[in-house]
Amino acid sequence: MFEFGFGKKASDERLGQVEGSADALKPVVELSRRADVDLSGLDRLGVEVSDLKRFVIVNGGSEGESDLVAGEYEGGRKLWESSVDLVQYCASEKFSFSGKRVLELGCGHALPSIFAAQQGAAELSLLDFNEDVLRNITEPNLQLNGLGASETSCKTRLFHGDWAALPDLLRDEDRFDIILSAETVYSPLSMKSLAQTILRLLSNKNGTALVAGKVYYFGVGGGTIEFQRTIKGLALGEETPVHVSSGRRIEDGASNVREIIRISPQQLPEL
Ligand SMILES: C[S@@+](CC[C@H](N)C(=O)[O-])C[C@H]1O[C@@H](n2cnc3c(N)ncnc32)[C@H](O)[C@@H]1O
Repeated sequence: MFEFGFGKKASDERLGQVEGSADALKPVVELSRRADVDLSGLDRLGVEVSDLKRFVIVNGGSEGESDLVAGEYEGGRKLWESSVDLVQYCASEKFSFSGKRVLELGCGHALPSIFAAQQGAAELSLLDFNEDVLRNITEPNLQLNGLGASETSCKTRLFHGDWAALPDLLRDEDRFDIILSAETVYSPLSMKSLAQTILRLLSNKNGTALVAGKVYYFGVGGGTIEFQRTIKGLALGEETPVHVSSGRRIEDGASNVREIIRISPQQLPEL
């Protein structure tokens, strides 16, 4: 059994519980957008993302102490470096979000989604395993950045649950122009379901998925190399050809080598 929605907090009228039924799928939160984004908190990470000024970075958990619980809490209370890479990549490549339907899988702080909204996305859907993360981190960050103002046009939905459940719960027409995901390919176990979810939900006309992560997660076994291999293998069974390529490698000499993987039915320019 899985749970979609914040059903446990019954006092909150916006929230509903969905247990194992596609018909009952409801977006947890419907928000809309004001194009004022502020991410100055990113200074703490030593990065600059132009045009973004305000952001809450919670980064819970003590240094050197693991607070991860597999299948329950997998790091969404921290802002991870690959979501910053992803935003920087989209900004430098002048990636177009204008009018696009965007999905972020394993969103945590939702930095890439906020950037997408700021760049004119028409619709945002965000999903994370962890209800607490969505409620206490994702949603406040969306609101801080103007998503939620009733006068604006970017429809925003939050989903709580395993990404593997999303394709069956969304209708067939619910495909996305852009799928974003950062620091979600660490586990060989969930990597395959992430790849399947992307292939099922990406628009096969002009969709692009961007998956950012470390090339290799030491001690965990996943990484972008393994993810590429996994999604290429799955894509062989697709009717529409799917191209998988590396968009950028990030080597700063200080931390693990990181990478942005691009998945698209269109052949994208080589590095
Ligand atoms: C390491 S955190 C990264 C969070 C955020 N993307 C970032 O870069 O700051 C991984 C996130 O993926 C989510 N996640 C992992 N496996 C998932 C799954 N099968 N379904 C939904 N969310 C998942 C976790 O809950 C967590 O928030």
